[in-house]
Amino acid sequence: MHDEYRVAIDIGTTKVCTIITRKRADHRVEVTGLSLVPCNGMSKGMVADSAAVTSATRESVESAAVDAGVEVSSVYAGLTGSHVESKNRWANVPRTDGMRAVTDRDLTAAKKAAGAIDLSDDRRLLHVIPRSYALDGLHGVRNPLGMHTGELHVESHVITGSVSKITELHNAVSDAGVRVSSMVVEPVATADAVLTADEREEGAVLIDVGGGTSDIAVYHDGAVAHTAVIPVGGYQFTNDLSIAFSIDFDSAEQLKVEHGTAAPELAGMKEDITLYPHTMEQSLTITKREVGQVLKERTSELFRMILLKLEEPHLADIPTDRIVFTGGGAKLEGFLNIAKFIFQRKVRLATPRGIDGMPEGTNDPAYSAAAGIALWGIRNLPKENHVGDRKSSYVFEETVIGISSSNGALSRIRGWLPKREKETAGA
Ligand SMILES: Nc1ncnc2c1ncn2[C@@H]1O[C@H](COP(=O)(O)OP(=O)(O)OP(=O)(O)O)[C@@H](O)[C@H]1O
Ligand SMILES: [Mg+2]
Repeated sequence: MHDEYRVAIDIGTTKVCTIITRKRADHRVEVTGLSLVPCNGMSKGMVADSAAVTSATRESVESAAVDAGVEVSSVYAGLTGSHVESKNRWANVPRTDGMRAVTDRDLTAAKKAAGAIDLSDDRRLLHVIPRSYALDGLHGVRNPLGMHTGELHVESHVITGSVSKITELHNAVSDAGVRVSSMVVEPVATADAVLTADEREEGAVLIDVGGGTSDIAVYHDGAVAHTAVIPVGGYQFTNDLSIAFSIDFDSAEQLKVEHGTAAPELAGMKEDITLYPHTMEQSLTITKREVGQVLKERTSELFRMILLKLEEPHLADIPTDRIVFTGGGAKLEGFLNIAKFIFQRKVRLATPRGIDGMPEGTNDPAYSAAAGIALWGIRNLPKENHVGDRKSSYVFEETVIGISSSNGALSRIRGWLPKREKETAGA
């Protein structure tokens, strides 16, 4: 029964998000537990403080598990950072018996052949995603199963990462007491949660603007054609405000979220904002337009970096006239206005789709990666059990909860407090 439950963890630069999902009999995927715990243990998508990541992961998993009424034993963990690299490559699939129908076995051999690349000791293969096949030189075949051919070639999107960066994240999550069953590269996972079938087919660029990274995935003909990670996200936007107005980071973050805009020309000239930064004795009054000027510059620079990442020869023939933004950083007011102007393409802001039962308030771009990791795992990885029955429960026990004094005599006040029973691991 439990093999239809999958648990996904997105360890972002600003938070750890755990989503527990269940695939129902009607094949829809529903959320049964969700939790978000702030975390400062990552920098630009990579582990900077493993103890902080472990502690936030433990808290987030436990809270989602209580929510879902299960015990979590294994998880899929999202992975990002500029150490993640990708390329498309063709491979010959070794076959015998001359002309014959393509079988499931050939497709497994195709994946193996596509992933047979020479990697240096510090690189690890993360994903081999077949894009198309060539049958006796006839290109562009998407599903060759059952078709007759002598030679079979496969074109795949191959993603690799740094062994040390992958191991650091793996260990930080396992130290929280859960087994990492697979690591899923975030740009491809997030695409599963936000792109429509039309966008994947006709061509679209997905950009997840997080706290410390902007993850890019380009789709066309139903498959991923390009992935890239830029080490810039909402953190840098806040940092710019902190430097420009000489205020502490937390005050700058509040200023950005409450009054920030990337399109200052749309803000009223005289819209004053009064700040009370922790580090200043006096208040500070600035205009929304001044705040917007700083944020507009950073937004434009990020978009120029994205354009550079899209200037790949193999993308020249791919229609990428739709850009789909997600991630908390893309919630900045005016973000889409500037995007439309700089990219000269259709743009939209996406929240997770294809998943039922997201709790109120979580239909938000910041949850796209976690939802995508779960969906990617369900669609692409072998069935496995991620949860067990929740054997632990909260019981109430009578205990001393205070002391009172009356007529000079001290007496104990007894009350009932929740106490967690010792856990026994679920099946
Ligand atoms: N309303 C808003 N306006 C502007 N920025 C916002 C808003 N809400 C959230 N953000 C920014 O979104 C960022 C966090 O987004 P998200 O939760 O997607 O990041 P993350 O997953 O933790 O990081 P990453 O994916 O880079 O590892 C923060 O920098 C935050 O300031
Ligand atoms: Mg993220």
